[in-house]
Amino acid sequence: MAVVLVLAACARQSPDGVANATPSDSTLRAPNGDLVPGGDLGRSILRGHAILAATRDSLPDHVGSSLRCTSCHLADGRGENALPLTGVYARFPQYRSRAATVQRLEDRINDCFLRSLNGTALAFDDPAMRDIVAYLAFISRGVPIADQPPQVAAGATTGDTVAGLRVFVAQCARCHGADGGGSVAPVYPPLWGAKSFNIGAGMARVRTASAFVKHNMPFDMPGTLTDVDALNVAAYVMSRPRPDFIGKEKDWPNGDAPPDTPYKTGPKKP
Ligand code: HEC
Ligand code: HEC
Repeated sequence: MAVVLVLAACARQSPDGVANATPSDSTLRAPNGDLVPGGDLGRSILRGHAILAATRDSLPDHVGSSLRCTSCHLADGRGENALPLTGVYARFPQYRSRAATVQRLEDRINDCFLRSLNGTALAFDDPAMRDIVAYLAFISRGVPIADQPPQVAAGATTGDTVAGLRVFVAQCARCHGADGGGSVAPVYPPLWGAKSFNIGAGMARVRTASAFVKHNMPFDMPGTLTDVDALNVAAYVMSRPRPDFIGKEKDWPNGDAPPDTPYKTGPKKP
């Protein structure tokens, strides 16, 4: 147990959201037989881990895209600057302004099924949902209860899509394809088109995408893009077509949508 606590502590982020762990730490913290408990709980945790990595194969009826959870939540959900899910179990229930209601962790997971995977929701009592929650609870052990670490720096909400296209061709197309459609073997997920995340996904917002790209892409040379190149390429990628999200205009009904929301939402408060 002490081992789990020490390792989980490494997953914490400094207050400004900058990682204080090295990449080798993520490898160290990846679930392995020594840390996962035995018995039914351990099997549930390992199944949840497998679902995050092979979402479509595990749940074909619930995934409409070619993405898997770990396409974005890199390193098994433990990547320090890749939308980390460490500690997430303790951050819910939580008020979320996009839905203007208090949501459970299961609601938040279903948001990613509906939007990020362009799929359909799981029933709360579906064994797959239970296993995903078991895995997220496992990688939350020892992480103090705290608000979501800031994932997106305040800053520009639009970029230069023409300059972004140049960055895309030079830095992204070799893996994600000239048409942004990705590839099956090796697995490079699509960035736009029918098999990508839909317009209602968090990744469809330029600030979210540029922060993700800045820290994690190109996958084999993370951190090499300038802030401006990351912003511009994110703006270019987000200007490309992708699936719609039915009901998106009902998001942020109190008028507090983030400035980079790419569609019209609820009224502004007076
Ligand atoms: C296209 C990228 C993408 C994919 C694929 C994806 N997510 Fe997410 N997820 C995000 C983004 C972006 C956020 C944060 C959104 C925001 O800024 O609020 C997020 C947030 C979350 C959160 C809340 C995190 C927190 O700290 O509050 C959970 C839990 C989560 N995702 C689980 C999943 C699961 C489980 C899957 C697979 C079924 C999945 N996600 C697939 C992009 C993705
Ligand atoms: C060396 C290959 C490679 C290069 C080059 C690369 N990526 Fe990726 N990208 C990946 C891999 C691998 C993943 C995660 C796949 C996984 O683990 O399932 C990913 C995931 C992503 C995601 C989240 C998932 C999705 O499909 O939306 C985005 C956004 C992204 N890359 C954008 C970019 C951008 C923009 C560039 C250029 C600046 C780029 N990538 C360059 C390999 C690459």
